[in-house]
Amino acid sequence: MTTDLATFNPFDPAAIQCPFPHYAQMREEAPVTLVESVGMYLVTNHELVMQVLRDPATYSSLFGGASMPLPSDAREKMMEVMADGYPRVPTMLTADMPEHTRYRRLVSKAFTPKVVAELEPVIRSITTRLIDSWIDSGRIEFVEQFGVPLPVEVIAHALNVPDSRLADFKRWSDDSIAGIGTDISLEQRLEAERGVNEFQHYFAAELERRRTEPQDDLLTALLTARVDDDDPEVTDKRPLDVPEMLSIIQQLLVAGNETTTKLLTETMRLLAENPDEWTRLKQDPTRAPQIVEEALRLSTPTQGMFRISTKDHELGGVHIPKGARIVIVFASANRDESLYPDPDGFDPDRDNLRDHLAFGKGIHFCLGAALSRLEGKVALEELAGRLESFSLPETNEYQYFPSFLLRGLTRLDVDVVPAGAA
Ligand code: HEM
Repeated sequence: MTTDLATFNPFDPAAIQCPFPHYAQMREEAPVTLVESVGMYLVTNHELVMQVLRDPATYSSLFGGASMPLPSDAREKMMEVMADGYPRVPTMLTADMPEHTRYRRLVSKAFTPKVVAELEPVIRSITTRLIDSWIDSGRIEFVEQFGVPLPVEVIAHALNVPDSRLADFKRWSDDSIAGIGTDISLEQRLEAERGVNEFQHYFAAELERRRTEPQDDLLTALLTARVDDDDPEVTDKRPLDVPEMLSIIQQLLVAGNETTTKLLTETMRLLAENPDEWTRLKQDPTRAPQIVEEALRLSTPTQGMFRISTKDHELGGVHIPKGARIVIVFASANRDESLYPDPDGFDPDRDNLRDHLAFGKGIHFCLGAALSRLEGKVALEELAGRLESFSLPETNEYQYFPSFLLRGLTRLDVDVVPAGAA
């Protein structure tokens, strides 16, 4: 199959179901391709994606509205709804230096490696509770019964959200990504913005409460985080204000939920398709981290990310005008045959297992990489310990969500056999 690259639409639902042959063709024929149907340059090989990631001055992350563009009357309605919330300010993911440096410094004071490491017992207890809830039921729907609740409950715990608000928390996460890389109706977009307002008011009140009653939690740590006086790279030493903190919390919520759900689900599918790897994992659970890495490379839940060109320049021999929208396609770079022999194969024993770009690289490198790696490791250890075996029944249709940026299965039926079953 060959694709007409000029008319190829990466947002087309059929392409989203299996984009990999299209990416392979782009890497081979035109690793920087202007996709005219959407007016964006797709960058698809590892070397050029790295070139973009290493040069944030030329490739800006101020893409803010990554949602599909709106006509002007719809934009007005959107502004009206947003007026009921706090200003949506670009932080981290959608900010450039020097503002980005300030945000990263401040958030790194709150979301430290120690905070992440201390979440391990919580992750393990959520994982075992979830597995116990379905282990004897024969057939489960993995996305709903494991992939979704595990990361939601972990990040909710980190943000000190009570169990009674968990369902709202998940809804706010869905609302936050509505329209990103997906074509939805205006009414759905407005409804999602109302949900984001609700999320903002909830967390603004929680932050306010901690000003007078500090707690040992991430919200208090965000409130009290300060840039070091002698830090030469940050001239603006202001602490985070409320809209900035809300934007950061929203990023933790969104990035922490959807992506990890998709990783867990794809890992399950890959293990079912590679039963020898499941057997080896059961015999030796210390293989869990390398299985997670290879699943990250092959599934790449964040398939790509936007950048805006800040000047006229050339990339891979292609002229890119100032202001052009660029998509760096991590999912394609991760299957670059010049780096990975048998790029579509699942091989957790590769030498260069951690060279993948599933978490990006450079100044925007995923802030939650350690957390999602930990969730993946604990999930695999517990699944391997508690399940004798599992298989994917024929009821599965393997439909992916119609989103270009976040790729994951809508559902995955799994037949489970508990360990020790006769
Ligand atoms: C499998 C799970 C995950 C994947 C595949 C993933 C992927 C990514 C990627 C590719 C980027 C870089 C975007 C860019 O270059 O523009 C990124 C950034 C980010 N991720 Fe993740 N992520 C995951 C989990 C998480 C978790 C659990 C959190 C938080 C708890 C998180 C928070 C963030 C934040 C805040 C950024 C922006 C960092 C910055 O711009 O400085 N991610 N993530």
